[in-house]
Amino acid sequence: MVDAKQITKNHLFPTMVYCVANVLPTEERENILRDITQRQEQQGNLPLLDADVYQPLIYQIADIAKCWMQDHQWEYDKLILTDMWFTKLKPGGYHRPHSHANNFISGVYYPESCDSDGIVFEDPRSQANVILPFALSQNAFNSQSWMFPANENSLLMFPSWLKHHVPPARKNRSSVAFNLMLTGVVGREIDFQFSEFS
Ligand SMILES: [Fe+2]
Repeated sequence: MVDAKQITKNHLFPTMVYCVANVLPTEERENILRDITQRQEQQGNLPLLDADVYQPLIYQIADIAKCWMQDHQWEYDKLILTDMWFTKLKPGGYHRPHSHANNFISGVYYPESCDSDGIVFEDPRSQANVILPFALSQNAFNSQSWMFPANENSLLMFPSWLKHHVPPARKNRSSVAFNLMLTGVVGREIDFQFSEFS
């Protein structure tokens, strides 16, 4: 009989997804909500990166991204926020499955709660879905997708290549999405896997 103590469980090739709670103080969160509403009324699509109201969020993203790089033990020169945009979905609105090309890390911030409406990530290992026994309880090892709720003032961070979609919203749904990319030297020349991004 095998003793459970004999078994070492190795979690190989896992995918990190950060869920960060209480990202901004109330006033700064409400400023963003107000700004999104104004921009939507004006139907303007000006970049958010330079707007004062998003600077506290950008500061937090930079801090969280540092933790991300530390957790992954990645060596890097610089990580820059390449873009940031808002989305306001009306009930029934959704986003098809997609990933964020030409970036390294992506994320989304929710300035208001959307009840249980959230974002669904899909298992990138297509071969893992060939044989699927019934799962008695859902966990990270037996799921083909995973939903995170859009909680008020929370932020999700994930690898840009990780496919995700937004199921049809049941109420108005505001979000601020962003991408981060490495610049400078990436990799080491000695490994023959080296590039320099400006
Ligand atoms: Fe996305």
